[in-house]
Amino acid sequence: MSFPYYPNSAKYNTLGHLELGGYDTVELAERFATPLYVLDEQTIRETAREYKLALDEFYPNNLPIFASKALSLQAVFAILQQEGFGLDVVSAGELYTAQSINFPAHKIYLHGNNKSRAELEMACDLKETRIIIDNFSDLEILKQINKPVSVLIRLTPGVECHTHDYIKTGQFDSKFGFDPQHLELALEEIKQNSNIKLLGLHAHIGSQIFETTPFEDTARILLKKYQEIKQKHGLELEELNLGGGIGIHYTLQDDPPAIRTVIKGLTNTIKSLLAEFNLKEPKLIVEPGRSLVGRAGVTLYKLGASKQIPQGKSYLSVDGGMADNPRPITYQAKYSAQLANRLVSEKDKLQNFTIAGRYCESGDILIESLQLPENTNKQDLLAVFGTGAYNYAMSSNYNRVPKPAMVLVGGGEAEIVLQRETLEDLLRNDVLPSRLLKASLEHKEAIH
Ligand code: LLP
Repeated sequence: MSFPYYPNSAKYNTLGHLELGGYDTVELAERFATPLYVLDEQTIRETAREYKLALDEFYPNNLPIFASKALSLQAVFAILQQEGFGLDVVSAGELYTAQSINFPAHKIYLHGNNKSRAELEMACDLKETRIIIDNFSDLEILKQINKPVSVLIRLTPGVECHTHDYIKTGQFDSKFGFDPQHLELALEEIKQNSNIKLLGLHAHIGSQIFETTPFEDTARILLKKYQEIKQKHGLELEELNLGGGIGIHYTLQDDPPAIRTVIKGLTNTIKSLLAEFNLKEPKLIVEPGRSLVGRAGVTLYKLGASKQIPQGKSYLSVDGGMADNPRPITYQAKYSAQLANRLVSEKDKLQNFTIAGRYCESGDILIESLQLPENTNKQDLLAVFGTGAYNYAMSSNYNRVPKPAMVLVGGGEAEIVLQRETLEDLLRNDVLPSRLLKASLEHKEAIH
């Protein structure tokens, strides 16, 4: 039995244990402790190839780039570089991570609605790194830096995509990108600065999107601008960046489109618009994040305390929660989970449990209602699926709990790609001024 939220390599072995990348998750939990993020290399590579194959078939002049905010780790960048992907970065930290593995600079795109001068300088110094201009402040700083740079302009296309309000970005009142009414002004500023080369326009409308038409509507809006720019400025833009946003299965209720279907529909629309507007074919860039790494991640938790409310809920607590997966408390995101150490059979009597995190917030509930065998207990290991994107990336040290480790399974290996934090790590940047140390020592002496 397989579910659409499983990583590609997931299966239950003869012991009734969940296996990922050929590794028994019970053994992984013993070897690396819990909570543990497990990342399936096969899923990342196969999904990357789904993108690449569809793009190469329908629109060979393409560059898919990984929206690295979904999971910024050297190992992930390296895998995607090997699969021919570029990178979307939004901070000096992500850029530094890319540099640390010598990621090709011309395949890196720097985003952000409030880039610092230092970040823009860092990107300019890499020479070929592209910058997505989000607002007039970016332009002003680039003019001051005054180094040769290739840019795209981000527009808010005013396209509705039906997703959670916090992850919509294409609407006109978004904090991201230029309002189309200001495009002309931005173009004039760029024209006046010979160091800034305009390559194209960008739009990203939102995330966890299940429809295909919003992507096509966005392409139409942007290419209409390409036509206007050609007519008015005699400039044929070389690149077209349509952002990311394709959704994934977290539960059986989710209904994401196949990657190939979106790419086919989108590229058909683009090709007919290019013919209609008589435009030169630009390089097509897409920026998937979640759909590349989301399903590749599984988090393993040990079950702990339980609590039965008389005539009410049955709580089961896990050894992690909102600090390693802030999506349920932030977006009311739903997740699927199963016991990793025993395959539930028809003989098991099932019961509804509320899976609670260990953090000091009533809202720290990972799964509101999960069917598990009624004798589920502290010996059991829970696997939560679909945790590869925006989990570690958004994790925190809330309650001063060290962050979990991440293990990459693939190529016949199970290797740490993220060390588990230690208690010493938590104190690394914590500074106690000497006068306070002295005072606390004196206080201790006084008590004794
Ligand atoms: N390009 C840009 C400019 C973006 O802002 C994003 C995501 C992407 C691409 C990738 O979108 P994706 O393919 O992953 O949907 N933390 C939220 C998601 C925030 C998305 C931010 N931008 C969550 O956990 O649902």
